[in-house]
Amino acid sequence: MHFISTILLLATSCDAFAPSTRLTSKSSTVLFASEEWIPLVTDDSSEASPVKKLVLEEGNGELPTDGSSVEIEYTGTLVGEKDWSAQDVADCWLSQLQGLDHLKAEFIQNNIDFALLSDTNVFTEEFCTTTLGISNKIQAKKLLMARNRLTKSQDEHPAGTVFDSSAERGKNFTFNLGKGAIKAIDLAVRSMRVGERASVVCRSDYGYGSEGLRSSKGDVMVPPFSTLNFELKRVC
Ligand SMILES: *[C@@H]1O[C@H](CO)[C@@H](O)[C@H](O)[C@H]1NC(C)=O
Repeated sequence: MHFISTILLLATSCDAFAPSTRLTSKSSTVLFASEEWIPLVTDDSSEASPVKKLVLEEGNGELPTDGSSVEIEYTGTLVGEKDWSAQDVADCWLSQLQGLDHLKAEFIQNNIDFALLSDTNVFTEEFCTTTLGISNKIQAKKLLMARNRLTKSQDEHPAGTVFDSSAERGKNFTFNLGKGAIKAIDLAVRSMRVGERASVVCRSDYGYGSEGLRSSKGDVMVPPFSTLNFELKRVC
């Protein structure tokens, strides 16, 4: 089973493409000259899209439709959380810690991005009680413990680690749009024509979330709250 699938049921083959679509795929692919990250989630509440895509090579033909079968080559890499904004920390990390969701406004107000969160000189228990106004000592401790778990998992699984790839498995990944792939991949592939190659970066709530991903042996492949990068190519 491919780890990027969320369910066991995998599609067996790609949907057939119309002959006219196939003919156009003969035209040469174009490399994009400018680096332009395309936001794939547009939501007014966050300043940056939690999923973004950079087209590396253009594809041909039609965009896939909901439910259709698609095949991709992929390489999944851990990014590390260093680019989390205060909004990301509040929306994704804080809101998924049980019982700490009410601190969102304070986090944003104090601009607690990942750099600040992981700075042990600044983000102390005193900071939590004084600056964030957490009078409950247990809650302040819980916050620090969660922060420590996050930074520890970062250290143990450094940015740049490849956690899964179709090449390593010797098998491309086939799934039906709308079911079978994690959110970020589903979202990205919806915007990809056959032959397109793209780099996709996603926040953990569009990847493996607060659970992360473990191998069948129980080894951590993706730690909780991991930002991920995927190099994708839509094969068919
Ligand atoms: C995935 O598909 C591409 C294009 O059809 C093929 O060249 C490649 O060998 C496939 N990868 C694997 C790992 O089977």
